[in-house]
This record gives sequence, structure tokens and C-alpha cells, in this order.
Amino acid sequence: MAVIFSGIQPTGRKHLGNYIGAITQYVAGQDRGDPAIYCIVDLHATTVPYAPAELRERVHDTTAVLLAAGLDPERCILFRQGDVREHTELCWLLTSVSALGELNRMHQFRDKSAAQRELISAGLLLYPVLQAADVLAYRAHEVPIGEDQREHLELMRNIAERFNARFGENTLVVPEHRIPAVGARIRDLQEPERKMSTTAGTEQGTVYLLDEPDAIRRKFKRAVTDSDDPPVLRRGDDKPGVTNLIDILASVRGVSPQSVEQELAGARGYGDLKVAVGEAVVEALGPLQERYRALREDESALEDALAQGASKARAIAARTLADVRAVMGIGAVP
Ligand code: TYM
Repeated sequence: MAVIFSGIQPTGRKHLGNYIGAITQYVAGQDRGDPAIYCIVDLHATTVPYAPAELRERVHDTTAVLLAAGLDPERCILFRQGDVREHTELCWLLTSVSALGELNRMHQFRDKSAAQRELISAGLLLYPVLQAADVLAYRAHEVPIGEDQREHLELMRNIAERFNARFGENTLVVPEHRIPAVGARIRDLQEPERKMSTTAGTEQGTVYLLDEPDAIRRKFKRAVTDSDDPPVLRRGDDKPGVTNLIDILASVRGVSPQSVEQELAGARGYGDLKVAVGEAVVEALGPLQERYRALREDESALEDALAQGASKARAIAARTLADVRAVMGIGAVP
């Protein structure tokens, strides 16, 4: 059985891309993972300007979303990155086998650093090394992610391979990504050439998991499709808007995009598709939103769940760190 690990940024504004690309995979991984480990990455959140007084609130928001989506602390390890100090220590130790040139070329570093006005923090450059430490500390085999994290996954494989070659084969596990076949890159509803994103997308084109049902319906009704006349209800590289809607509908219903295409063959236009997908998303998110409201109120229960997860996570990560320190010659003789 595989060790599964993934991480997610703490924000109160998780969107449909996070849900379809990642969160539904986390939930499915609980029964396969041995164990399945999910981490809310507060340390990563410090690489761009942020409000310290709000960070813990955002961690609680994300914890409640993940629990509401179906993560069960009895069946997975759910914890906050900043509670397990092994992540930061391993990050430093891995910098010795991380290539500056490679970090410099990361798309996310390029995009995020270009967006900074005052300070481009060194943390932004080292972000993928911390991400590598997250996964490698648990010797995870499988990492469920969306398409936008593929490059970071490749980098972490290089780091693990270089570490093993330099300090000892089999100290670290070289992880594999698990990117879903459908829904790995949910697109902005207004600008379907871009991915749905909290920071880089449009407000009307981003469907947040906690949006009111009417707001969700409205965003889908106004989704940009294309000007094919008559409308062509099929997927294709030349039809990003329509493809996105079909993929979303298929994902939230748990069916194949082909079956959605067949079902829509008789539809008159894009309007039918937009209404169908809006309704399906409202229906899928309704129970999640209801559970979220109940869970979010009880902050001490959220903290208890995170603390319980952190102690399990620490026990695993501490073993890896002991091995890493030993092969690197760091600290007193074990
Ligand atoms: P974050 O918080 O930005 O995103 C969480 C997950 O959502 C996926 N995702 C998408 N999937 C499909 N369509 C989209 N439009 C879309 N937007 C986001 C992301 O691919 C991700 O899987 N750096 C990571 C957090 C992280 C991590 C890790 C991930 C830290 N350590 C270790 C894996 C392993 C991030 O910012 O995710």
C-alpha cells in the first residue's frame, strides 16, 4: 500500500479547481493510503505578504472545508505544517541538493515574483524546496495534485534522486504525482484560456466552494463559451470554455465526459449546458456548505483535530529526519 501525501494552502477561498483537481482525490485516497497524509501549509503562506493575525483563521477555514468535503481524521492524518518542525529542518538540509538554476526557472516563482511590488522574498524562491520537504519527510509514494503543481513535483523528484545519489540510496523515496485524467486544470469561467485561481483569475470566473447557490448559478450562466454557430457541444482544444463546462459537469457527477457529451447531443445550445452544470455544482456543494458552517464554528474542535494529526505526522517525519541527519553527518553521533 502506498503512502499518500498532499498539501494545500490555507485560504478561506478555496475554489472549484481545488475541489475537483485535488480535494476529491484526497477524500478518495483515504481508503487507499497507508497512511493518507494531508497538510495545510501555513509556512508556505508566508512567502508573499500576509496578515499574521488572519493566518490561523484561514487555517481553520481550510481545515473545516477539508473535513466538510469528507476527510475523516480517523482515516487520514490531517495537520498544519507549522506544527511539525521537521518540515523546516528538512527544507534546509535539502537546499544542499537543490539547484539554484532550477528554482529560478520555476513558472510559479516567475509569476509570483513578477507580481511582488516591494519585496521578492527568498522564501518565494525556496518555496518548492519546502514543498519537497513536505512530501519527502513522509517517504510518500503518491502525491495527488492538479496540473499546475506538475513542475514542483518534477523538481522534488530531482531533489530526492540527487539526495540519494549523494548521501545514500534509499534514504528518501522518489514520489510519483497523481494528476486526475479529467479536471486537472479547471479553467476560469470568464477567461477559459487561464486556470481557475484565487490570485490570477477573474472574480466572476472563479466559483468558490462557499459561494451562495444563486451566485454559483449566475457565474455559470455567464460563463464564456465560444461563437460556434450552430453551437457544438463537444470537447476540444479549440473549445476551452465548453470543454471546461463539460469536464466540471462530468467531475461533480462522477461520470465520464463522453457520457456528458452524449447526453447533451440533443441540447439546443450552450444555455442548457450552463444551467445543467450550475445545478449540478450547487447540488454537489450544498451538503459541503452545510457541514462547513457547523464545523467552522467550533474552533477548539478544529484545533484538536489538527493537534491529533500533528502528533501522528511528527512521529513519521522524525524517523526520516533521524536517517537524513545520520547520512549527512549532521549533529551528534546518533
Ligand atoms: P494550492 O493550495 O494552490 O492548491 C491546492 C491543490 O489544488 C490544485 N488546483 C487545481 N486543480 C485543478 N484546477 C485548478 N484550476 C486548480 N487550482 C489549484 C493544485 O494543483 C493543488 O493540488 N504548492 C501547493 C501546496 C503544497 C503541496 C505540498 C502540494 C505545499 N506542499 C506538497 C503537494 C505536495 C499549492 O499551492 O496548492
